[in-house]
Parts: sequence; C-alpha cells; structure tokens
Amino acid sequence: MSQIMDGRKLSDQIKEKVKKDIEDLKEHGIDVGLGLLMAGENLASKEYLYATIQACKKAGIASHQFKLSDSASANEILNVVHSINRDERINGLLVLLPLPRRINTRRVVNEIAPEKDIDGLGSLSIGRLAADESTFQIFKQGDYESLYRSGTMTAVSGFLPCTPFGVIRLIEYYGVNIKGKHAVIIGKSLAVGKPLSLMLLAKEATVTVCHRETKDLGYFTRQADILCTATGMKGLIRGDMVKEGAVIVDIGINVLQDGSIAGDVDFESVEKKSSFLTPVPGGVGPVTIAILLENTVRSAQNNQFLKHPLIIG
Ligand SMILES: NC(=O)c1ccc[n+]([C@@H]2O[C@H](COP(=O)([O-])OP(=O)(O)OC[C@H]3O[C@@H](n4cnc5c(N)ncnc54)[C@H](OP(=O)(O)O)[C@@H]3O)[C@@H](O)[C@H]2O)c1
Repeated sequence: MSQIMDGRKLSDQIKEKVKKDIEDLKEHGIDVGLGLLMAGENLASKEYLYATIQACKKAGIASHQFKLSDSASANEILNVVHSINRDERINGLLVLLPLPRRINTRRVVNEIAPEKDIDGLGSLSIGRLAADESTFQIFKQGDYESLYRSGTMTAVSGFLPCTPFGVIRLIEYYGVNIKGKHAVIIGKSLAVGKPLSLMLLAKEATVTVCHRETKDLGYFTRQADILCTATGMKGLIRGDMVKEGAVIVDIGINVLQDGSIAGDVDFESVEKKSSFLTPVPGGVGPVTIAILLENTVRSAQNNQFLKHPLIIG
C-alpha cells in the first residue's frame, strides 16, 4: 500500500513563508504583483488561473489578469508582454499554456524579461538550468528553507520552472533520496518533462525520458525507481507497468466531462504496488502554485535588493 504524497501540506508550508515575506516587503512600502496572461479558453488553463488567483489573494499578492481571445494576434500578445515587462507593479509573469496553435509560444515566452520569468521557461532560464547555473537551488538536500533564509535564493540566478521544481521538492519532502535512482519521465515538453530531466540529472539520478514515439513504454516504466508522468493521458500508467515499491509522481491533469480532474495514473491499480504516490488533485498541482508565489516574491526581493541593498535582511 502506498504512502500518499500530499502536496497540500508542503504547499501550505511554502505559502506560510511567502506570506511572511510579503508582510516584510509591505512594511517597506513594497507590494508584490503577479501578471497572468491567457489567450483562448483552454479548460486546464482556466482551472490553473482560478487556483492561482485564489492563492495570490490569500498570500497578499496582487494578481493582474490579461485575458485575450483565441483570435489574438502574436503582435497583440507580445505588446501585453512588453507592457508587463515595464510595469513596476508586476514582479513576475506567468503565460498560461497552451497558447492558440497559430502562436509561436517560444517567441512569446522569450520576450519575458528574465527577471520576471518566474516560471523559468524563457531560453535564458532554461539555459541556466542546463548549464547548472541555477541548479544550486535544488542541490541542498531538501533544505530549501535555509537556502532562502541565508539569502542565497535571492541572488540573481534565474528561476526554475515551477512544476518540475515542485516535483523535486515534493519527492524530497517525503524523504525520498534521488541520488543513484533510476528516474523515468514520460513527456519531454519544455514546460515539464525536459526541465525535470535536467533537475533529476543534477540530483544524480540516472534519467530516461519517454515520449509518444517510445516503443514499449512499459519496458521502461517497469525499470523506474522514480516514475514521473506528464502526458495528460488519463489512465496511461497501470499497475502492471510499475515496479514493486516505486515512487510515482503523477503530473498529468485531465479535466473530465463532469468537471472533475484526473491524472495519468490509474490510481487504484498503481497504489497497490508503489511505495509513494501523488494524488490528482492534491499532489504536484498545489506545490506548483506555491512555488510560483515563492518565485514571485523572490523576484520582488531581488528587485528591491538591487535597488536598496540595505533593507532586506
Ligand atoms: N500539476 C501541475 O502543476 C501541472 C503543470 C503543468 C502541466 N501539467 C499537466 O501535465 C501534462 C503535461 O503537460 P505538458 O505541458 O508537458 O504537455 P505537452 O506539451 O502536451 O506534452 C505532453 C508530453 O507527453 C508525451 N505523451 C503524450 N501521450 C503520450 C503517450 N501515450 N505515451 C508517451 N508519451 C506521451 C508527449 O510526447 P511527444 O513529445 O512525443 O508528443 C509530450 O512530450 C498535462 O496534463 C498538463 O495539464 C500539470
């Protein structure tokens, strides 16, 4: 029987710290703001937008929504990004993906000023991750709180993509050692699978990345000590595809017809074999949002620190 990796517990812990930091900044007359840019009507994005706005409200972050229609042109979207880059009220920008098919997502994400790229998806942020220039944030075994307190996290270093960073944090929160393990990731997107593979590699796991063209997916998943799935294919991972005692992280989000949410994993059959398992909802999702808030506050702190180094302790 699996131990459930409850993302809400870790998320509450991170948000508590975020709230305190926001209060400290407020004492110095600084408000923290997050920009949320959405084009089109993707159901999963709407859910994410709603949850993020609620989390911002609770933490004391002002959320600024920029909603564009499905027919918005690339120029219109880029204009919004540019104006957010200049907006002193906004410390971070999250572009909700996917954008409409016609739009070149990389072009849009790369226009976000690196210091506001709090989801770490611009080429500069991804490059820093690949070059191990920002991975120090995941090196200190599970001790993120002290990194944050020591001020190391406020150094200008680029932000790590929130979802894969959340996966690492959640795994370590539950005391799972990553070093030397065989980690298998399903999905190679730039938002999730690819950066997660870089982070797990930095943590010295042996990493295998699977995708749609992988022949015999089960052959690879059955070898995984840590299996992370991010496909958006409901029920893709069944009990017969996992090794006894494996750690299973379900990142997938599928919005079902009745409005409920399910992951990629067939929970019932996998739960019987795995040692740790994330639920959907309530697993990686809440941690992703907490880290998004954490990165936004860091951005505000960086900004303030660079302008007035003496006021941040
Ligand atoms: N929990 C969270 O906080 C969070 C955050 C972000 C995303 N998500 C969810 O995570 C999922 C993935 O997001 P994404 O942005 O990475 O999506 P994406 O860009 O659509 O990528 C999906 C990946 O899954 C692979 N894939 C799809 N079907 C597969 C199959 N049958 N076998 C093997 N691989 C398969 C695709 O392979 P190819 O590259 O070969 O096409 C692709 O690499 C979605 O459900 C999304 O909603 C959750």
